[in-house]
Amino acid sequence: MAEGTRHRAATDPVLVVIPTYNERDNLAPLLQRLHTALPTVHALVVDDGSPDGTGEVADKLADDDPRIHVVHRGGKAGLGAAYIAGFRWGLERDYATLVEMDADGSHAPEDLPRVLDALHGADLVIGSRYVPGGALVNWPRKRQALSRLANLYSRVALGVPVNDITAGFRAYRREVLAGLALDEIASQGYCFQIDLTWRTAEAGFTVLEVPITFTERELGESKMNGSIIGEAMVNVARWGLHRRRAQLRRHPAVRDLRHRLARR
Ligand code: GDD
Ligand code: MN
Repeated sequence: MAEGTRHRAATDPVLVVIPTYNERDNLAPLLQRLHTALPTVHALVVDDGSPDGTGEVADKLADDDPRIHVVHRGGKAGLGAAYIAGFRWGLERDYATLVEMDADGSHAPEDLPRVLDALHGADLVIGSRYVPGGALVNWPRKRQALSRLANLYSRVALGVPVNDITAGFRAYRREVLAGLALDEIASQGYCFQIDLTWRTAEAGFTVLEVPITFTERELGESKMNGSIIGEAMVNVARWGLHRRRAQLRRHPAVRDLRHRLARR
């Protein structure tokens, strides 16, 4: 598609996909804030059978508001799987933009209008903690260090020029997600964010970061754990190797050598 056409294309209607696992007390206030900031957007809650009853809270909210939708999944299957289910739901309908947002209030709905505005000049807009103007509030030092390390590691391995590659607050044009092979994406945990970022960049789409303020949740707890970190480290290393091998294969000297060997 020509640059100009793509970037002039409409960004409405918007679907905000919100994965939930045990976010009972966070969901209603968040949706309230979202619809105050942006009254016309739709929200899709993707709940993995939360034991705390988040799914029922979501159903009640959806009963009273046609802008709120719910997908229930059998059990906790990871952030990545929840987003893929949410994106599929949105792509089957006529949404032009699909947004990712956490349910715990860390991503301020009040920042979303700016994120969506930037989508007029990009295919993926990342709400970034690590560009000038971005900020962290109350995030434990340990998590900050981990996040910085994950970004550094990913940037070196994958060569993607994004400062907040693990960010979970973003807006995709539907064409990006429709063009990626969603069933090939196996990332279950938070490395899903890294996975989608490099696939988007690799496919030639434009990625833009806008500053946001990330505020640590006040209620409930994070689902981050050691196996999520492990999955990310292994996957990023694998994608990095894959990328280097492909680069090498394209190198003229290597092509020449392969050509000569094939002729012998
Ligand atoms: N459906 C579903 N299934 N939702 C999940 C699952 C799951 O297995 N795991 C987590 N979630 C939901 C949470 O309920 C929350 O709404 C959102 O995903 C983010 O989870 P948190 O556990 O609050 O993440 P965090 O605060 O530790 O991590 C933040 O930083 C990461 C690193 O930058 C998030 O912004 C992540 O998206 C980000 O990758
Ligand atoms: Mn959180």
